[in-house]
Amino acid sequence: MKIVYWSSTGNTERMAQMLGEEIEKLGGSAEVEEVSSVSPSALEKETVFALGCSAMGDEELDEGEMEPFVQEVEKFASGKKIGLFGSYDWGDGEWMRRWEARMKEAGADVAGTVIANNEPGEEDQEHLAELAKKLFG
Ligand SMILES: Cc1cc2nc3c(=O)[nH]c(=O)nc-3n(C[C@H](O)[C@H](O)[C@H](O)COP(=O)(O)O)c2cc1C
Repeated sequence: MKIVYWSSTGNTERMAQMLGEEIEKLGGSAEVEEVSSVSPSALEKETVFALGCSAMGDEELDEGEMEPFVQEVEKFASGKKIGLFGSYDWGDGEWMRRWEARMKEAGADVAGTVIANNEPGEEDQEHLAELAKKLFG
């Protein structure tokens, strides 16, 4: 399963790796890739995938790379099973609620969302394990 992420200081990157590890524990294979090294078209043929991005701007996605990537994904997201995750700091997760709503509006089946306050810990890993089950199970 492809897991594509954007991360500024490594927090969402760590979440992406944790999700990949949980998918592998379930017997799946995970390709964890930075958004800058993936073309959105690589996801078009996938039926299930996960996207990660931290809260940036004012409760927005990273505008340089992730926002344009997600705009492309929205064009073919209908019917896809998608997991969303990311790290935040001072907010309340609004960026993730907006992101989830956008993907649902595009017709995606959002299997779950996981948000971690700053660096992901054990509880976040448990939430990522639950997401892995929903995506892979
Ligand atoms: C420019 C900038 C904008 C940010 N905007 C938000 C925000 O709107 N809401 C929030 O909760 N955290 C915000 N943060 C905090 C980051 O989301 C937080 O540090 C997160 O852990 C970074 O994860 P990453 O290392 O995966 O990028 C912002 C941080 C920066 C540097």
